Amino acid sequence: MQAVTSDREPPGDVSDPRESEGSLVESLLATGYPAELECDVVDKFNVPLHLRPVRSDDAGQLVAFHARLSPGSIYRRYFAARPLLTPQEVSHLTQVDYLDRLALVILDGDEIVAIGRYERIPSTATGEVAFVVRDDFQHRGLGHLLLAQLASAAWSRGLTKFSAITLLENRGMIAIFEHSGFPVSTSHRDEEYYVSFSINPAERVAPRRDARRPGAE
Ligand SMILES: CC(C)(COP(=O)(O)OP(=O)(O)OC[C@H]1O[C@@H](n2cnc3c(N)ncnc32)[C@H](O)[C@@H]1OP(=O)(O)O)[C@@H](O)C(=O)NCCC(=O)NCCS
Repeated sequence: MQAVTSDREPPGDVSDPRESEGSLVESLLATGYPAELECDVVDKFNVPLHLRPVRSDDAGQLVAFHARLSPGSIYRRYFAARPLLTPQEVSHLTQVDYLDRLALVILDGDEIVAIGRYERIPSTATGEVAFVVRDDFQHRGLGHLLLAQLASAAWSRGLTKFSAITLLENRGMIAIFEHSGFPVSTSHRDEEYYVSFSINPAERVAPRRDARRPGAE
C-alpha cells in the first residue's frame, strides 16, 4: 500500500483550495518551484521513494530513465517507437511552469522511476495527463499515486478536469482511471481510448488503495 507524508492534505480532501488560487498563482510566479508538492512515499512493498516536481536539472536522469524503458512501455506512452528522446523533447519534459504544465517524478535514491504530467489544453480548464513508470517499478501502485497527486495539484491551480488518450489494450492505465474514484467518462475509436473526468475532490469517492498517511489504517 502506498502512502504519502503527512505534510499535506490527502487528495480526497473536500475543501476548495482554489479559494486562495490568486495568492497561490502569485506565490508560484514569485518562487517557481513548488516545494510543497514534495513528499516521501512508499510503494506497495513499502519501499521508500521520494515524489517531487520535475526540475530542469533532471534532464540527465530523464534520459537515463527513458533508456531503461522497454520498447512496449515507450510505445504505450508515446504511441510510437522512440528509443531516444531528442534534446528538444528532454527540454519540454523537464522545463515546466508548475501551473499549466506540471510533471511529478518519483525517485528511488537519485534515479527517476516514474513520471506523471499534465498539460493544460489551451483556453480550457482541462489538463491532459500522461504517465510512465519504469518497467521494474510497474504494478507497485506508482501510477495510481501519481494520478492522485497530480489531480490534487491541478485542482489547486484552477484546473477542473483531466483528459487522457491511451491505447485500448492498455488495461493497466485504464484500470487506474477506473479506480481513481473520479467520475470517469470513456469512449473509444479504433485502437484509442479516451478518458475525461472532473478532478473536483468533492466528486471523488476515495478509493480503497488511495495514498495514506504513514501509520494510518
Ligand atoms: C500504465 C502505467 C503508467 C501504470 O503504472 P503502474 O505504476 O504500473 O500502475 P499501478 O500499479 O498504480 O496500478 C495498476 C495496477 O493497480 C490496479 N489498481 C490501480 N488503482 C487501484 C485501486 N484503487 N483499486 C484496485 N486496484 C487498483 C490496476 O488494476 C493494476 O493492477 P495490476 O498492477 O495488478 O495489474 C505503467 O504500466 C506504464 O508506465 N506503462 C507504460 C506507459 C503507459 O502505458 N503510459 C500510459 C499513457 S497515458
